Amino acid sequence: MIAKVFSDIHLEFHDRHNQMHFVDQLINDKIADVIVIAGDLAVGKEAIEWLKYIDKNVNIPVVYTSGNHEYYGTQKVSLDETFHQANKEFKNVKVLIQDTFEFMGVTFAGSTGWWDSPMSKAHLYSLNDFNRIYDIMVNGNGTMWGVSDKRFFQKVLEKSSNVVCISHNAPSWNSIDAKYKGSDINECFANHWDKMIQDNYPIAWVHGHMHDSCEYRIGKTQIVCNPYGYYGYEVNSRFNKEFYLQVL
Ligand SMILES: [Fe+2]
Repeated sequence: MIAKVFSDIHLEFHDRHNQMHFVDQLINDKIADVIVIAGDLAVGKEAIEWLKYIDKNVNIPVVYTSGNHEYYGTQKVSLDETFHQANKEFKNVKVLIQDTFEFMGVTFAGSTGWWDSPMSKAHLYSLNDFNRIYDIMVNGNGTMWGVSDKRFFQKVLEKSSNVVCISHNAPSWNSIDAKYKGSDINECFANHWDKMIQDNYPIAWVHGHMHDSCEYRIGKTQIVCNPYGYYGYEVNSRFNKEFYLQVL
């Protein structure tokens, strides 16, 4: 099975007239059996409108999990409910927020990931998440979401084989680009889930959030990230519109 993988296309940064062209280029694919989108598609309900567009214009499954930017200007609890309702109407798009999708003998398990370690004041002052996501504070500054997401992935990995995990935040600090080594806010970008991966060896773990590409292994598991970035401001020069992952 071949999966086309990308993330962080941040459609909120694109010109109106090139948004659709850009999305069309990504989803009109003749090689992939499935498309995997690891979050930061667009902000709030716009993300759902884009998923509706994608749903109508593909004829293969599109597996999607939300990024942190989807929740800017709203509450996670309310946007997740809207995702949940929209998901029922989709034919091809599968929104995975602590959910799974079985396809061609593979279990796709997705959720944003967040962080499962407590956040310090340095984190709270440094990242927009803490003032733009309105229910983050009452959820332990996001830590409760991260703990819960880790538990979700652990449970899926324990009961299924042939799993591809999809998160927005990275599952390992090995995904942090050399230029950010030593940064105070790496906790907000990557978790220390290496042991869970090593012990349960999913086929692959796809993530986004860092705007640098990476591809490496933890034990038997392939870790991949193919993010685009901010159109007009900061685009990842290594973004590949035709990045494929051989799953099985
Ligand atoms: Fe992003």
